[in-house]
Amino acid sequence: MNQATTAQAVEYCEGVVKKFTIATVFWGVIGFLAGTFIAFQLAFPALNLGLEWTTFGRLRPVHTSAVIFAFGGNILFASSLYVVQRTTRARLFGGEGMGNFLFWGFQAVIVLAASGYVLGITQGKEYAEPEWYVDLLLTVVWVAYLIAFAGTVIKRRESHIYVANWFYLAFILVIAMLHLGNNLTIPVSLTGTKSYIVWAGVQDAMTQWWYGHNAVGFFLTAGFLGMMYYFIPKQADRPVYSYRLSIVHFWTLVFLYIWAGPHHLHYTALPDWAQTLGMVFSVMLWMPSWGGMINGIMTLSGAWHKLRTDPVLRFMVTSVAFYGMSTFEGPVMSIKAVNSLSHYTDWTVGHVHSGALGWVAFISFGTLYYLVPALWKRQRLYSLRLVTHHFWISTLGIVLYITAMWISGILQGLMWRAYDSLGFLQYSFIETVEAMHPFYVIRASGGVLFVIGALIMVYNLWKTAKGELRSEKAFEDAPHAVTAG
Ligand code: HEM
Ligand code: HEM
Repeated sequence: MNQATTAQAVEYCEGVVKKFTIATVFWGVIGFLAGTFIAFQLAFPALNLGLEWTTFGRLRPVHTSAVIFAFGGNILFASSLYVVQRTTRARLFGGEGMGNFLFWGFQAVIVLAASGYVLGITQGKEYAEPEWYVDLLLTVVWVAYLIAFAGTVIKRRESHIYVANWFYLAFILVIAMLHLGNNLTIPVSLTGTKSYIVWAGVQDAMTQWWYGHNAVGFFLTAGFLGMMYYFIPKQADRPVYSYRLSIVHFWTLVFLYIWAGPHHLHYTALPDWAQTLGMVFSVMLWMPSWGGMINGIMTLSGAWHKLRTDPVLRFMVTSVAFYGMSTFEGPVMSIKAVNSLSHYTDWTVGHVHSGALGWVAFISFGTLYYLVPALWKRQRLYSLRLVTHHFWISTLGIVLYITAMWISGILQGLMWRAYDSLGFLQYSFIETVEAMHPFYVIRASGGVLFVIGALIMVYNLWKTAKGELRSEKAFEDAPHAVTAG
């Protein structure tokens, strides 16, 4: 790279990143509210309201799709398009026109999918509920995304491709592959909304969980690791702890994840060898996961003191700690003996949310707090004290959520398998449901706290975008300010 090229300014496409950032915040609040509402429905079934459109069964996929694909998807778009331009020093391939196509195309997918769920239109495949017409639209948008991202990497002005881009690229490519494989359906008619999958029986189940697990691995993990590798070093103002480890992390993670899906089908009609294969690869997955976690956390070497004064960095580092926790728990749950207790219980739901709230949402909050001042060219966030409030209120919400689910899950599993001295089941099913009630109330209260924290964030980001600054003596001299760039 010669001096002249380095000095040459690049006009990045930021309008599209701003749009995706706003959409992230919008869908995040909708998704968290939906999660809290369905949590209350489980505690108080009267909240199903006696209407088909508002039953738990229809609103649950509204929640999962809103948080994973709308909130998670929009922050993945926002951050990847921001990071790829900055680290390659190239303008987005296709420019703002391409950006607008991606943005509006993706929002159309979200709205079509969610309205379908409420009306009862679904493939009945978890995390792949949308019917064929939405799948087709998503395919077009996703191919455009791949072209925009890869095109930017190809026309880069830096010879090296920074590791965050590898993670983003793996996420885009693998999601394309999974989406196509798991949605190979034949529509009943071109004017109707119903279709049938080409896979039959256990092959369909296997394809579904190959998709489902890698949606976790590549949508909820690889892309967010891309965020970790860019925004933590930026916010901490330190280089990545070990660049070599980040490369080992990347290749081991992508190689191992793809085999682990069968751990969702233990003790089913799936051949035993496939279940064992899934279990073994899941246990091995612990190593790259923790390698990545260590790399993220140790990036703070020599900068630990910043955690005291920078709540944005605290969000990011705590998210990596939660990543470590859920990627320790996952391999344990994949062991068949453990899974025979945990499967079908709330333990799984607790595991999901320690990853989803602690890792995915927290790294996203950290990224949003970084991006908004940078994109709107503000000297710093409106208020760091509000970020601190957000951090503690949400952390308390997560702790309530996941501890309630661990206790209720293990209790549920143990009650289901308890026999009396004559060999009869000791508890009827309804007794186990009654035992869950207090934990469902605690979980829902955790959800309320999480929503309150998110609303504080919305207010703070809104004020930041407007260019307002709250005078905060305690934070004034701290090295936290995020400057545009
Ligand atoms: C306010 C925050 C949230 C609350 C109160 C909440 C609540 C819930 C509830 C009640 C369920 C249904 C559990 C069941 O069927 O027994 C659920 C499922 C789920 N949620 Fe959330 N959620 C929240 C945030 C999130 C976020 C941010 C994500 C992802 C980024 C997420 C991902 C999921 C997933 C993947 C499932 C399905 C779990 C499974 O099938 O095992 N949730 N959530
Ligand atoms: C080394 C990493 C991980 C492994 C080996 C792993 C393993 C597992 C296992 C064994 C289950 C229970 C399957 C069942 O009994 O049906 C599970 C469920 C799940 N995990 Fe993980 N997990 C890992 C990391 C994560 C992370 C980081 C997240 C979130 C960001 C996550 C999200 C989920 C979800 C959404 C489910 C529920 C799927 C469903 O039944 O709907 N996992 N995981």
